[in-house]
Amino acid sequence: MSTLLTGITTSGTPHLGNYVGAIKPSIEKSKDFNKNFLFLADYHSLIKNQDPELTFKSSLKIAAAWIACGINFEKVNFYRQSSIPQILELNWILSSVTPKGILNRAHAYKAAVDVNDKTDPDSGINAGLFNYPILMAADILLFDADFVPVGSDQKQHIEMTRDIAGRFNNSYGETFTLPEPIISTDIPLLPGLDGRKMSKSYNNFIELFSSEKILQKSLNQIVTDSLLPGDPKGTKDSILFDYFSAFLKKERLDGIKKSFEDGAGWGDLKKMLFDIINDELSPLREKYENLINNPNTIEEILSEGEKQAVIHAENKIKEVRETVGIKPLHG
Ligand code: ADP
Ligand code: TRP
Repeated sequence: MSTLLTGITTSGTPHLGNYVGAIKPSIEKSKDFNKNFLFLADYHSLIKNQDPELTFKSSLKIAAAWIACGINFEKVNFYRQSSIPQILELNWILSSVTPKGILNRAHAYKAAVDVNDKTDPDSGINAGLFNYPILMAADILLFDADFVPVGSDQKQHIEMTRDIAGRFNNSYGETFTLPEPIISTDIPLLPGLDGRKMSKSYNNFIELFSSEKILQKSLNQIVTDSLLPGDPKGTKDSILFDYFSAFLKKERLDGIKKSFEDGAGWGDLKKMLFDIINDELSPLREKYENLINNPNTIEEILSEGEKQAVIHAENKIKEVRETVGIKPLHG
């Protein structure tokens, strides 16, 4: 019986990238597993910002987005990372077997160092960012996850989790499952409006549940070239085509590819894209708005999920504590 687990950092408004890369695939995949853990990575958010209102509102929005998109609570434990204190306990235990060197090589940390002056490479970098991969490993290993669906930007974190689990198992004996990432190769990392990866951190994102008007306006801003209607258009380096690929299955995508090749105008293609995305999101948007206006419902759903998740966490941490030699002194 395999276990699926994934989390989303609550550091902003859910965007189309989070939807195609994480929210939608995790809900779809959860149908194939008997045990699923989907959670809000709110402690990870503190590393990225020190704005309490941002983390709070983001937790509400990301929880609402996940629920609106159709989590099946019969099969899924849905919870906040911060409601499972055992994650932080495991975080410490794992940090004791993690060589500092592997953290030096983490992409997120390296990227932060690279933008700094060589005379002060760690300027403005908090220890949380440096230790980020260990907290993520704790999230995953505490629940014995076999599979972790993530966007391709998170691949290195899963490799580090496997590395950390392997080191622990080598030192103490088999304790943790080595997780496999599930990274969809059909879905590209969705580019943002500036062509870089769509990300909360770059402020180049299209909100998942903005109004129809704003969605249309944002999609119209996707950068295209100066080819005219009637000119055949390539799909390979087209940001617009990446959006179609993220939302459509193969057969319909082939049709769109043909429209590109046949010279459809950028305006018409953008209108088609809007209709496709809007048709998919409209019914979910209504549910989302309802949830946002009823935070008590979200709180109840999370509290229920947390009751279940914590049972698993307590059992696992007890096993880990004993494994490392922390246990009652009698008998
Ligand atoms: P952000 O970069 O906006 O802070 P997160 O790091 O919180 O997003 O990502 C949450 C999940 O959404 C991860 O699984 C990540 O891989 C996925 N994701 C984020 N941005 C994109 C994107 N542009 N395209 C596809 N998936 C994405
Ligand atoms: N680091 C992930 C992100 O920013 C979020 C995350 C935290 C996560 N813990 C996790 C994802 C555990 C999968 C499994 O996207």
